[in-house]
Amino acid sequence: MVFVHSPRAPRPSRPHHQQAPAGLTSWLASVDAASEPAVRLVEIDGVTCVIKRRRPSFARGVSYAVRYVRAAMLGAGCKLVLGEWPAPGVLVHNGLAHEAARLRMLDQANWRVPLVWSFKPGELVLEYVGDDMPGVLRRASPEQQQVMVDAMAVELAAFHAQALWHGGAQVRNLTWYRGEIWRIDFEENIGAALSLPLAQAYDVYQCLSSLVALRGLSEATAQSLGARFLQGYLDANDDAAVRAGLTRMAQSICAASRVIRPVLGWVPGRDVQGFFRVADTLRLL
Ligand SMILES: Nc1ncnc2c1ncn2[C@@H]1O[C@H](COP(=O)(O)OP(=O)(O)O)[C@@H](O)[C@H]1O
Ligand SMILES: [Mg+2]
Repeated sequence: MVFVHSPRAPRPSRPHHQQAPAGLTSWLASVDAASEPAVRLVEIDGVTCVIKRRRPSFARGVSYAVRYVRAAMLGAGCKLVLGEWPAPGVLVHNGLAHEAARLRMLDQANWRVPLVWSFKPGELVLEYVGDDMPGVLRRASPEQQQVMVDAMAVELAAFHAQALWHGGAQVRNLTWYRGEIWRIDFEENIGAALSLPLAQAYDVYQCLSSLVALRGLSEATAQSLGARFLQGYLDANDDAAVRAGLTRMAQSICAASRVIRPVLGWVPGRDVQGFFRVADTLRLL
């Protein structure tokens, strides 16, 4: 199914970008791809480049069936929590080729994402767009944290007002660059398999849940930044369909939390405690 949506807000002006370094092609030819890491930041001719590599793995390349089953399980989770069943056949079309295509599309929409400087199967070279948000937030003062979380909320609402979705909107896939939020990591395809409002509600959920579970912040700080993010987003986006999707998600998560908390409430660990923190924050809805 193809969903066509038109943006609710005027298109932003194109952000400033770097030029690809002239020596990129010869640098790529000079390294042994097989011994390169999955993500490498490298400076070529004084320009920082990000090189992402994905080797064909058993789960990825050999067995379409394994990926299909994984996608179907994710789909079942979505049906349970979101009330919508994303087609597994769409979900399996993820990975670097998908990311390169989405980055080019988002650049056409003038969104703040890295430029694709080169792509071939298994190797994607991107413009560097700053330090990722988890570290930036940890190093920031409480006042700066609030400013950044407000920026995250307003930016996500503006991104959604362009009829766009991320699909991997966790804090670790945001960067802080030239005083603005940029988005990276577009390998996941879940938004293409959901309706737009649900894909956007899922972005809000992913950003919120990663924010309240962020390592290095006290529980009180994480919880208050999470509430601030959610409120900021809702203030900036009045789309009733996204709100309905979030409310539906909140109901499922709060119900699950009520059942699980008496049993697992004492278990330490970011995943478990993060889940309860999300449930507490989503009660705002
Ligand atoms: N264009 C970019 N600019 C700056 N940092 C990046 C960029 N792309 C990736 N990174 C860094 O590399 C990390 C991993 O890249 P990412 O695209 O998120 O892949 P994945 O999470 O699938 O491994 C990011 O969290 C970020 O720290
Ligand atoms: Mg990532």
